Amino acid sequence: RDEKERLGVKDDLKLSINAVKTLEARYLLKDEEGKIIETPGQMFRRVAIHVGIVELLYDYMKFQKKGIVAENGKKIPVSGIIPTQMEVLKRAFTHLVNEEQLTGTFEEFMNFVQTKPTTAMDTIDKYEQIMRNLEYVPNSPTMMNAGARLGQLSACFVLPVPDSIEDIFDALKYQAMIHKSGGGTGFSFSRLRAKDDLVGSTKGVASGPVSFMKIFDITTDVIKQGGKRRGANMGILKFDHPDIMDFIMSKDSENTILSNFNISVGMTDEFFEKLDADDYIELRNPRTGKTVNRIKARTMWETIINKAWQTADPGLIFLDEINKRNPVKNIADIEATNPCGEQPLLPYESCNLGSINLSKFVKDGEVDYERLREVIRLSTRFLDDVVDANKFPVDKIEEMTRKTRKIGLGYMGFADMLLMLGIPYNSGAALEMGEKVMSFLQEESHMESERLAEERFVFPGWYGSTYQEQGIKMRNSTTTTIAPTGTISIIANCSSSIEPLFALAFVRHVLNGQELMEINRHFENALKNKNIFSEDLMHEVARTGNLHEIDVDPEIKKVFVTAHEIDPEWHVLMQATFQRYCDSGVSKTINLPSDASPDDIAKAYRLAKDLHCKGITVYRDQSKVQQVLYSGTKS
Ligand code: CDP
Repeated sequence: RDEKERLGVKDDLKLSINAVKTLEARYLLKDEEGKIIETPGQMFRRVAIHVGIVELLYDYMKFQKKGIVAENGKKIPVSGIIPTQMEVLKRAFTHLVNEEQLTGTFEEFMNFVQTKPTTAMDTIDKYEQIMRNLEYVPNSPTMMNAGARLGQLSACFVLPVPDSIEDIFDALKYQAMIHKSGGGTGFSFSRLRAKDDLVGSTKGVASGPVSFMKIFDITTDVIKQGGKRRGANMGILKFDHPDIMDFIMSKDSENTILSNFNISVGMTDEFFEKLDADDYIELRNPRTGKTVNRIKARTMWETIINKAWQTADPGLIFLDEINKRNPVKNIADIEATNPCGEQPLLPYESCNLGSINLSKFVKDGEVDYERLREVIRLSTRFLDDVVDANKFPVDKIEEMTRKTRKIGLGYMGFADMLLMLGIPYNSGAALEMGEKVMSFLQEESHMESERLAEERFVFPGWYGSTYQEQGIKMRNSTTTTIAPTGTISIIANCSSSIEPLFALAFVRHVLNGQELMEINRHFENALKNKNIFSEDLMHEVARTGNLHEIDVDPEIKKVFVTAHEIDPEWHVLMQATFQRYCDSGVSKTINLPSDASPDDIAKAYRLAKDLHCKGITVYRDQSKVQQVLYSGTKS
């Protein structure tokens, strides 16, 4: 309590201290002097209203399309709509009129709002409730920016990098604007001509993709100072680009080079065919299409694996798999993903994410699917509203995002759920549970998007999409994504994404030399239930973070496994299981202990390809000097 007050936060939701610290730093609105002016509950209200206000437009749409009036709804006093909300309405109205989903003038719409009851208030209240309950949390930019000056609500963007100086520097400018608002950017650099290739206008030679990436990296550093949070990037280069070996070797284990980038090699099936046949890869000049060099596929593969062992980079992205499942091939092919890899996007496309906290849906040892269904439906609707409520940083991004209306609903708290059900992460039962909850999410969110298409319109890019071919009307070209939930899982006080626990207990060094023991609450409960909880045991566990070498109740030992004790194969299997029922991608770090071999990494990469994952990233413990999370003792 004292600490929360010291931070200036009135915690009306009884959040964890880490949640309050996080909200205080960047989420809660502040006045000119930097004093916090809202409670966490008021923050969720602000978000619910600035997103849900567009429901007014959709009630108007229903009225225009079918003459339907929400007789049981409420009337909203127009005088109660504050300027930031009015701004959202005006912008969304203009777009919907341009897209021929609405007709008439804004004044006519306002007249409707003044005279007819609508469902908007009800929906806003429900949005607020699922967030206050921490059943559902939208991605960070939505909470930071809804109703604030920037108004930019999406976490993920992909920007194209065409092969000209003018276009490259346009991309840099867009990157800066996106980072300023807390969004992350992904780039494919595959179209840039190779190092030492000719430059037509000057007869000089080109710098190549890796040099250009350094400028994008520096922009990120500079913007970081004034932005909402540290910007993140994904850099992708296709395996047959002449500079691919430089790219693969570009990062270091001290993370001093390209430190704001995750990098991934863009793979197609051709690479693996060549690898299996022990054949050569022809490296092609992207400008002319001509082969300029060749390299044994095996040599490239071994370099990738060794670098990933040393530095955790590069990961792989599987472009054929991604494009096979791209529903809007009619618009463009996908060449890149967002920074953490879970969201493949078309050039200039953005996506807003949100995650459901599974730990809130275990009741009496069972999953409450009825409530889960309600929350999935509401949060799918919420995310569709975000597309309209969003203020985009660049016109081209607005245009593309509105065309596909991609949204990414996912999960967090999956490991908590397993612990509450007594299921070890590394077990067939856990995979079954993953399959059950993910297929449920996929089915229910698709059904909601179909209902929304019925009520509203199909997404504008639907014509010519695979959905049109199948005769399925959808409001959104994708509905599901498993995000890393790095920050929002702290806010919700649950395990992140679909990851296992990292440590059961650890000692946090706080200021003034004090040490604070943090214990996973499910672990603590389980020990207390068995009457075997003790301070001594906790200190012993905190040394490594796990029970590996501790003599304790065998049932507890089996269920409470942590990331490094879990065989990499189980990590990949879990990722592949969720991917089977996911429109976009799955964020997953394949954690390996520090003594893992390069061969372990090769196996994980290959398994991910064979199991139809869309990408893969590994992380060997201690392979980076500046590691964010240590198991056991951390500061
Ligand atoms: O938990 P939160 O909503 O803050 O984000 P996340 O689920 O950890 O990450 C989702 C996406 O947000 C990432 O894949 C990035 O696209 C973006 N992101 C970013 O750009 N910069 C960060 N520091 C964190 C996330």
